[in-house]
Amino acid sequence: MSMAELKLLFEHAGDPAYATLAGYQAKGGYQGLKKALGMERQAVIDQVKASGLRGRGGAGFPTWIKWNGIEKEKTKPHYMICNADEGEPGTFKDKQLMEQTPFLLIEGMTIGGFATNAQSGYIYIRGEFIDAARAMRKAIDEAYAAGLLGKNIQGSGYDFDLYIHLGAGSYECGEESALMSSLMGERGMPRLKFPHAPLPTVAGLWDCPTIINNVETYCCAPFIVANGGEWYASMGASTKNSRGTKIFSVSGHVNKPGNYEVEFGTTMMELLELAGGINGGALKACVPGGSSVPMINAEACAKAIIGYEEMGEVGSMVGSGGCMFLNEHTCIVQFIWRTSQFYMRESCGKCTPCREGTRWLHQILDRIVKGGGRPGDFELLKDVCSQIDGRSFCGLGDAAAWPVAGALKVFPEEFHHFIEHGRSMVGPVPVGV
Ligand SMILES: Cc1cc2nc3c(=O)[nH]c(=O)nc-3n(C[C@H](O)[C@H](O)[C@H](O)COP(=O)(O)O)c2cc1C
Ligand code: SF4
Repeated sequence: MSMAELKLLFEHAGDPAYATLAGYQAKGGYQGLKKALGMERQAVIDQVKASGLRGRGGAGFPTWIKWNGIEKEKTKPHYMICNADEGEPGTFKDKQLMEQTPFLLIEGMTIGGFATNAQSGYIYIRGEFIDAARAMRKAIDEAYAAGLLGKNIQGSGYDFDLYIHLGAGSYECGEESALMSSLMGERGMPRLKFPHAPLPTVAGLWDCPTIINNVETYCCAPFIVANGGEWYASMGASTKNSRGTKIFSVSGHVNKPGNYEVEFGTTMMELLELAGGINGGALKACVPGGSSVPMINAEACAKAIIGYEEMGEVGSMVGSGGCMFLNEHTCIVQFIWRTSQFYMRESCGKCTPCREGTRWLHQILDRIVKGGGRPGDFELLKDVCSQIDGRSFCGLGDAAAWPVAGALKVFPEEFHHFIEHGRSMVGPVPVGV
């Protein structure tokens, strides 16, 4: 194992036996749930608090605060949702977790369900992830047959049912309120948020108290309960406020693309080394956390430490961990043109800044990459970004504006060159543009 790799969730990934109940249990699986069922619900939440676990879906929100926010005296059904939509370009870790470590997710959700007094859980899986859905189906059936799901789990008196729901390939349905709308059979559009509407922990799915977390977040829970929150928090202790491990899906110009699990506090350059280093030229830029986070240049990348606050210090974010490394031959303008096309197509159209703004961004970038850029286009792009950022109904608007604004800030000369000369600074325009 390389120096920088710390496999916790992925320790046994790749071993086909680990995707079976017997194989999972042989490697210590279900010790966490066994322990949790003998604890008070609040004590389980306290362990998650001590662990310092933050949501791995993108925003890094402390998991225990969500779990603790559920009403203690149950007045309505409580629901547990797993966000397995994984639509963020560059991110493919949840897919591997579901395919190779399905019981980690089931155990993690059952622990979460017990701690928050939920009797039903839903795994909302991106529609294209057929293999992941099949692996989860098989594992859920095995867990039911062994009394690890369903009524009176392991004689504890706790009941928990787990359902799979396949999405239909919409990025917006990964946004938690849109996901819940979709799960309820409505159009996959977001709902009004706190403080203008109650939090999902108060009124979520079918207006009932609901927890929604990412696949990777739930997969951490069995380790936290089995070994204790403090044990988990010892990983990443060199960072300000990021604990445990994080899986990065590394792609782009690297020799060994794939998912890599590292301890918080690892550097971006160590991550690049794990992925076999850059290929085809020197490192030019990096998009550390999925297509919606701002890119950083090689200099910032050389200083970047993996941590929620630390990544902010170099101008980007951990995000969902979809890390793309770009070599010196990458045309940043074309890269951003492609990114902007994605957000324009995925905008749900509910609010004006995002519906119109994403189209404006793409149209301006489109004319630039086709050689028809106009004087003032650079400033116009900046202005449109500022009109979208913070003014949209949900996070997709921000996610569309940040990458463009980031690229304009870090590589302004590339945009100016393309606008002025009608061609890229780094090479010919590829077929398809
Ligand atoms: C447009 C958009 C798409 C999103 N897609 C995903 C996704 O595919 N998977 C995910 O876990 N979170 C996604 N999120 C974040 C979720 O809204 C939510 O914050 C997350 O599921 C919470 O889980 P966590 O606290 O465990 O990170 C998305 C957010 C936005 C604004
Ligand atoms: S920001 Fe507005 S238009 Fe864009 S996806 Fe969200 S609600 Fe829809």
